[in-house]
Amino acid sequence: MTTAGLEFRDVAKAFGAVQALRGVSFTIAAGDAHACVGENGAGKSTLLKILAGIIRPDRGALSWAGERVHFSSPREALGHGIGMVYQEMLAFPNLSVTANIFAGREITGPWGRLDERAMRARTQELLTQLHVPVTPDTSMERVSTACAQLVQVARALAFDCRVLVLDEPTTSLTDAEVDHLFGVVGRLRQQGVTVLFVSHRLPEVYRLCDRITVLRDGQFVGTFERATTPSDDIVRAMVGREPPKRVPRVSSPVSTFAPAELRRTSPSSPALQVRGLSSRPAFEDVSFQVAPGEIVGMFGLVGSGRTEILETLFGLAVPDAGQVAVDGQAIHVRSARDAARAGLALVPENRQRQGLFFNLSLRHNLVLPLAAKQGVGVIRDAGEEAVARAQVESLAIKTPHLRVTPDALSGGNQQKIVAGKWLATTPKVLLLDEPTKGVDVGAKFEIHNLIRRQADAGMACLMVSSDLPEVLALADRILVMREGRLRGELPGAGATEEAVMRLATQEAGGTA
Ligand SMILES: Nc1ncnc2c1ncn2[C@@H]1O[C@H](COP(=O)(O)OP(=O)(O)OP(=O)(O)O)[C@@H](O)[C@H]1O
Ligand SMILES: [Mg+2]
Repeated sequence: MTTAGLEFRDVAKAFGAVQALRGVSFTIAAGDAHACVGENGAGKSTLLKILAGIIRPDRGALSWAGERVHFSSPREALGHGIGMVYQEMLAFPNLSVTANIFAGREITGPWGRLDERAMRARTQELLTQLHVPVTPDTSMERVSTACAQLVQVARALAFDCRVLVLDEPTTSLTDAEVDHLFGVVGRLRQQGVTVLFVSHRLPEVYRLCDRITVLRDGQFVGTFERATTPSDDIVRAMVGREPPKRVPRVSSPVSTFAPAELRRTSPSSPALQVRGLSSRPAFEDVSFQVAPGEIVGMFGLVGSGRTEILETLFGLAVPDAGQVAVDGQAIHVRSARDAARAGLALVPENRQRQGLFFNLSLRHNLVLPLAAKQGVGVIRDAGEEAVARAQVESLAIKTPHLRVTPDALSGGNQQKIVAGKWLATTPKVLLLDEPTKGVDVGAKFEIHNLIRRQADAGMACLMVSSDLPEVLALADRILVMREGRLRGELPGAGATEEAVMRLATQEAGGTA
């Protein structure tokens, strides 16, 4: 089909002094699967929010099927067939799946009464069609991230959407869940639904989309054909220069496999030592150590217990058994505060829930862990400003100034704040859970460099990541988890994706 689809014409939007979109024009053919990519803060989510009627553009126009449209609310956009799956969850957590699907457009009976039965039945139909393993009555807060995303798709379908817009829907999904979501999207396409997909994962963009539009600094750079454009060209268009190279190893890897003289500290004093740590059913009898200056990668499929180990080490959960020592001293942490005092820091996976204080300024967010560690409420103003400024600069955090609250930042820039605030504390042991989730290529490179620099300065790093190339690029040693147990260990140098995956997926009972 080449009928006029969705057209953006000269769309501009500023937030105060920040020009998020500077007059963007491009067209998405009806029935197409179209990607929109760009660095953190390029304006992707802003463009999508304008399309969905959440924010108003300062100027410019939208047309859909040849007709000029203007949406002043998400409901109105939905009414015109534009359904959206959001980057950050906007569901009503304490309401049921059914209530979330029909919010704002409830089915009513003859006297205007809500027709609960009809809504539940339609919800069940949609959940079955999309193979979502929840019931219409399940409370939204008990629905996993992957299912919650599919519930948003169900909501769009309940409104007979003709355009499905997905803003980074796969950042928290496992490979199998991504396959499922893409299967659903593929079927919708066959029914003629137009798809607009935003993601930092270029392989997924290439898998799903026919055309790719690149935004840079709020400007349209170009629309490229998937079939004829190598991904390096897309990256170059996104960053406006040569794509960043893999992080070089700035020091010889310090691993238990290295000869003793290569290690900067004696192997008898690991910075972090974990023995027989258990928290059933999440994980059991886990033992390992991390030396000062070492980066240990922990890999495993989602559900293998990795996040739970980090949370337990950081005092957010109580173990059933096991010992933990920092610098040879046994520690018993009951809270994040205890953990910080003991020299631990955690970069958590979920920035919405654990990573940021949305009512505090960036400056406060950035220095809070440092203040907590020093046992003071707030650091002196000048010191605070300097620490915060240094972080904003080194991570290229895109913000007008330090007084804004985190909600004014793009998703990836929020993640940089989460990583940056803990990297400012120079803990003895740094725990990192998916440190570059939702972060663009350039920032990923910066965060990797920061981690490497901290390790070179003697910090012990334990990093959980689902991004296998990231683990292979950074880790001196790789621990592989499967079903709550440590199944093996590989030296970082020379390990292959296949070897790691084999350990992560082998049937129980296989050799470790
Ligand atoms: N509510 C807001 N108030 C102030 N500034 C905002 C607001 N929303 C977005 N911005 C700014 O507008 C710019 C574009 O943000 P946007 O969220 O569209 O980026 P993005 O391309 O989606 O990035 P990411 O890949 O990190 O999600 C950023 O500089 C951001 O800080
Ligand atoms: Mg975004």
